[in-house]
Amino acid sequence: MTATSAEPVGSEAVRGLPADFVWGAATAAYQIEGAVAEDGRLPSVWDTFSHTPGKVAAGDTGDVACDHYHRVPEDVALLSQLGLDAYRFSVAWPRIQPGGSGPVNAAGVAFYDRLVDELLAKGITPWATLYHWDLPQGLEDAGGWPERETAYRFAEYAGMVAGALGDRVKHWITLNEPFCSAMLGYYFGTHAPGRTSFPDFTKAAHHLLLGHGLAVEQVRAAVPDAQVGITLNPVLAHPASDAPEDVEAARRADAVGARLYLDPVLLGRYPADLLTDLAREEAQLPVQEGDLKTIAQPLDFLGVNYYFRDVVRASDEPHGYEGVPQTDRPSTAMPWEIYPEGLTALLTRLGREYPGVPFYITENGAAFDDSGSPVDGTGRILDTERTAYLADHLAAIGDARAAGVDVRGYFCWSLMDNFEWAYGYEKRFGLVHVDYETQRRTPKASALWFRDAARACREQ
Ligand code: NOJ
Repeated sequence: MTATSAEPVGSEAVRGLPADFVWGAATAAYQIEGAVAEDGRLPSVWDTFSHTPGKVAAGDTGDVACDHYHRVPEDVALLSQLGLDAYRFSVAWPRIQPGGSGPVNAAGVAFYDRLVDELLAKGITPWATLYHWDLPQGLEDAGGWPERETAYRFAEYAGMVAGALGDRVKHWITLNEPFCSAMLGYYFGTHAPGRTSFPDFTKAAHHLLLGHGLAVEQVRAAVPDAQVGITLNPVLAHPASDAPEDVEAARRADAVGARLYLDPVLLGRYPADLLTDLAREEAQLPVQEGDLKTIAQPLDFLGVNYYFRDVVRASDEPHGYEGVPQTDRPSTAMPWEIYPEGLTALLTRLGREYPGVPFYITENGAAFDDSGSPVDGTGRILDTERTAYLADHLAAIGDARAAGVDVRGYFCWSLMDNFEWAYGYEKRFGLVHVDYETQRRTPKASALWFRDAARACREQ
């Protein structure tokens, strides 16, 4: 890469970030890999869902995606050119254990071996996420996450992956955003497997958390020097007004969207107010003796994903709230309100209520309509909105650190444009543009800005 950033990196963007701050980019298997039927991989719930008419915009699927499965050297070279310290990727369960149980599929492991070796050869630290939503379809057919057995199956798979890669991979994330797996997958039905049952959602949430705890045990047993965490996306809920029903809606959103996950993982208990809410809806968290102890194992870090806040009002739905679209401020293409101060607020709250665990921002970033952005003479997209989004959120992290919160790194979502779940390929989050016709990768101006910001941080 020879071109320079569209905008110089001001000291503002890295103010408050230490020289050893971790700068990375993130992806997930189903969103980039493609090669869905190669080397023994079997379908996941996302293959089934995306091939179901009407579930994903434009009928898009992950069949080819960014064809990353065949382009590891090229994609790792991109990370290297961007000068990043770390790369967060996910391991596809349906490659490692295609049906969700049974022996390890050596060809699936070999792919991640190659990826990890390539990263290490370029001096990039691998951060592996064990579950980024691609449940083997065979396990969904047996009941999916609402079944306790799925947690045991996940732990077994986690042990297999840790055993295979743990000599080289030291940073492990058990689950990515269990909120989405449980709530969007089993209740809202907007994500795979597309079920719409409130009781299934709460059962799934508990079994995901149990799977997390069991997986931590497996990773620690296989990799004694591992750094293990989980990635959560705590809802940042603000009431639409001071009216008591809106304030109550915000409490409910906070209970079911944030504390349902944070409290058992970090405090070893479910929130009392949430249990009361769920009892009213005749939904349960099917807790058995010892579960909360398993779920609350000490962690080395908490991964935090943040994109926007939720302004909420009351609703009669079982979860008790609904979002109120915000139109006063600019939004991204999703369209999600741009609210960087929410990241400071969220981190400050986490630091206060869940002390003792360091935080990493394991995802933050933005989709913008890049096709509307100017392009320079080399074909580079000048995505100034994305750059501004990143700069503002990095500054928000600096503010949280200044307030005493221990935030140690930032992974941009995403390294490259990819399959944005139910939105398909239309929404582009990448630092690097992907031409899906040719699979050509072209770093956007934001990628070069991010590279320069990382450098400025290291050299300050
Ligand atoms: C969170 C998810 O982990 C990731 O897969 C998704 O693409 C981004 N948010 C953007 O929606």
